Amino acid sequence: MPADRLPQFASVKACVFDAYGTLFDVHSAVRNGGQALGEKADAVSDMWRQKQLEYTWLRSLMAAHVDFWQVTSDGLDFALSASGVKDPDLHDKLMNLYLSLDAYEEVKPTLEALKANGLQTAILSNGSPRMLEAAVQSAGLDQLLDANLSVEDVGIYKPDTRVYQLTLDRLGVKKQEVCFLSSNGWDAKGAAHFGFNVAWINRFNREEERLPGDLATVIHRLDELPPLLGIA
Ligand code: LAC
Repeated sequence: MPADRLPQFASVKACVFDAYGTLFDVHSAVRNGGQALGEKADAVSDMWRQKQLEYTWLRSLMAAHVDFWQVTSDGLDFALSASGVKDPDLHDKLMNLYLSLDAYEEVKPTLEALKANGLQTAILSNGSPRMLEAAVQSAGLDQLLDANLSVEDVGIYKPDTRVYQLTLDRLGVKKQEVCFLSSNGWDAKGAAHFGFNVAWINRFNREEERLPGDLATVIHRLDELPPLLGIA
């Protein structure tokens, strides 16, 4: 066993990935199609993401679930309006770009290494099945992922424990056999609290969330993962 293999990952059979922010760059929609926003582009993109996430948490608490396409559209609508932008065509253009977000550059080689070493790979995401399928196809990852698990199967968003349980039910693995990866600090904590071995992909050098759940490790890019699993 290579020396840098993490003891917590000794029983791992499945690597399960968050989608948005972890595999796919959510800011690539505005980067690729938001030229009309000019200097407001970054602020709109940040507020879009923030509102999208807030609406998932709030709707879960309100027992008022709608799918992630609707939540994403509502978040964008808020961000554009709050920024003084009234442009329905831009809204539709940016929503369509959410179906073909850029994958981070190290995603494909990392998934290839995991598959070549016999590990199961899956997405577990807030995204609706249609959104996930489109993004995975567009990034050319469909052959490298065994399953795209969507919260739509349980009708509530992360970090509800029913979402993480879906992984066990659908992949036929135990908690300790799952390595869960997310760049979203709150999702990493939710998954760790549930009992997964979690690698937080701290892409953006954020503070660790003051929430329950012990992280197995903190890395900055997905290609730091294979060595931690004993893959050269
Ligand atoms: C997801 C969100 C949390 O993909 O980014 O589930």
